[in-house]
Amino acid sequence: MKNVCSYGLLFFLLITSSKTIGQEIQWTEVLPGVWKGVVGTPESYNLLRAAGVTPRAAAIQALDTPSFPLLQQEINASTVDGKTYLHFPLDSLEQLFGFGLNFQSVHQRGKILRLHVDHYGGVDNGRTHAPTPFYVSSRGYGVFVNSARYLEVYAGSAVRKDSKHPPQAKDRNMDKTWTARPYSDAVEILVPAAGVEFYIFGGPKPLDAVRRFNLFNGGGILPPRWGLGFTQRVQRLYNAAEVEEEIKAFEERGYPLDFVGLEPGWQSKSYPCTFEWDHKRFSDPKAFVQKLLKKGIRINLWTNPYVSPASPIFKEIEPFTASHTVWVGLVPDLMMPQARNILFSQWQRSQVDIGVSGYKIDEVDGGDHYLWPDVASFPSGYTAEQMRQTYGVLMQRYSTELYKKSNKRTYGLIRGSNAGAVSFPYVIYNDYYKHEDFITALINSGFAGVLWTPEVRASKSAEEWLRRFQSNIFSPMAMINAWASGTKPWSFPEVEAQVKEAALLRMRMMPYWYSEFAKYHFKGTPPFRAMNLEEGFALQESEKVLTKDLEKNPYVEATHREIKDQYMAGENLLVAPMFTGQASREVLLPKGNWYDFYTGKFVGNGEMITVSPGLDKIPVYVKDGGIIPFMPPLLHAPKADERIMIELRHYGEKPGVYDLYDDDGETFNYEKGDYSFRRVKVERNKDGKWKGSISPPEKGKPNTIGKVSFKFMTTS
Ligand code: GAL
Repeated sequence: MKNVCSYGLLFFLLITSSKTIGQEIQWTEVLPGVWKGVVGTPESYNLLRAAGVTPRAAAIQALDTPSFPLLQQEINASTVDGKTYLHFPLDSLEQLFGFGLNFQSVHQRGKILRLHVDHYGGVDNGRTHAPTPFYVSSRGYGVFVNSARYLEVYAGSAVRKDSKHPPQAKDRNMDKTWTARPYSDAVEILVPAAGVEFYIFGGPKPLDAVRRFNLFNGGGILPPRWGLGFTQRVQRLYNAAEVEEEIKAFEERGYPLDFVGLEPGWQSKSYPCTFEWDHKRFSDPKAFVQKLLKKGIRINLWTNPYVSPASPIFKEIEPFTASHTVWVGLVPDLMMPQARNILFSQWQRSQVDIGVSGYKIDEVDGGDHYLWPDVASFPSGYTAEQMRQTYGVLMQRYSTELYKKSNKRTYGLIRGSNAGAVSFPYVIYNDYYKHEDFITALINSGFAGVLWTPEVRASKSAEEWLRRFQSNIFSPMAMINAWASGTKPWSFPEVEAQVKEAALLRMRMMPYWYSEFAKYHFKGTPPFRAMNLEEGFALQESEKVLTKDLEKNPYVEATHREIKDQYMAGENLLVAPMFTGQASREVLLPKGNWYDFYTGKFVGNGEMITVSPGLDKIPVYVKDGGIIPFMPPLLHAPKADERIMIELRHYGEKPGVYDLYDDDGETFNYEKGDYSFRRVKVERNKDGKWKGSISPPEKGKPNTIGKVSFKFMTTS
């Protein structure tokens, strides 16, 4: 009898758990314009918990408070088979952006994605280095699903029979407008857990939603000033003498250089790693690092986290590692304090304490054939899937702590990331190498809360080398990664002069890059972002494209006029890279007057222009009233106590205002208020002549700004 009863109960449970259960969503406005929705019982481990960051609440409060951007009753959730299903409404004229670091598309409407941390495999299918579960709508809001699981996303690609705005059924026999993919009015997401929390970020503009997301995740990265200079990663088996020789060559040839990356050969063994110097190649690592520091050159070290049997920490860390290995190396369970302590103490003792400035943390993304499989177990009890989705986030978090302890900023590279890591000082890179796709990734990085570098490695021609180099200097990390190729900036003598000019331009623009990163940190504005976040651009798109084509066929919009080869860099610049073989290209200018960055001449307003810039330059344009701060072309970033001459260039006809950021450039003291934004203004005086001013330095704050001059680029 007892048995029959429990079988009956089991049967009942099976029936109910495989049935769809509509779930109530518990809503809370956690900060102005940030609403949290809770469905069922969310898992305790999620992306925000992995990152452990605190929202920049005051900065979010300082934004205008929007009202809830959607109809709450149109957001639904249910559980099916122990999985949570989320449903968000979609308007017919709405475009979607985001869903992680995509390489080939900016418009995401119509996509089916499986968000999964992986090495990018050449298709935008959700498997990427940062599959951030965050999307932004052209209607001015964002949605973030805070889950450390692989998520299935139907981004407006399936039609419900209870759709509020259903598409019409059409006759394929006779109707030429029949389409295999009829219009869908929903974003639907499947979370493999019996509950989940998600967030809605209000606008009113798409950029405001992105800002709120970034600030909620702790605000963007503020790199050290030197991080925004030039970096060369040397060939993988270089020894100390060869590294010093390369640095000397940079100096003698007058190329800027702020930090040098050592690739696997600095370690006694790699893949898996010992985390110990190779004493044949580097006999006295401390003397080597310190000697270079005196010259103003910092060292960054490549590593992956997998522990070699030859590593001094192998035995000690073994109990705190996963069931499976990577290249027969142990996988530290980063959710166990013991594992973190053993791994990072080794890094600290052997590297950080002798002056190493940061890391390139490789192989924390994929791929499936060598990473731990989903059947692996971790002693902390977290699943292989959760660890895969957050391993890069955890590596960034705990390696940054090493530098926080000594109050020195770091700036490094990472190959796997996710939401939560917005404030960690790392830039994503990979082994893929299509220049065009590298630019699309740069655009998408602004929606994913990450930074991306279109690194330069090798090229088939001088033209390709130059074109890659030119776009790389308008990115978060200006870098040659010569680990395999051994290339140097001057490897193609035919274009050496242009490459050098570009490298020096990077240095001259350092005050601009630094100020724009400060705005990323304090205001959440991504320094590199899509045209779609630019106001005059969005308007133009909706007027000309959406209304014309979308009603007829919504998927036209997903490919039509998708701008994935030009982007905004900081507040005032529009960058339009040139690709190998192109003599000219089209550039779509948002509404408002735009001016040539190099000459100050008017180029257009709200129109498509065709430009033929020649080999020497890539097209860059400045907004009307835009101000760009320049410094002299120094070969190393200014030090904390150095005073630097600043030239403020003003473009266009409108008066300009610019907030020039200043701090010591090296420590975390800005977090305690040791920084200032100096207000720059350019206006016409009574005679109609341009006149510039800058607010005085704030008492007691770091001051690196020396003599200031103004240059009015558009004279009329
Ligand atoms: C790759 C990495 C390259 C380089 C190489 C060294 O995984 O993406 O940039 O560091 O390892 O072996």
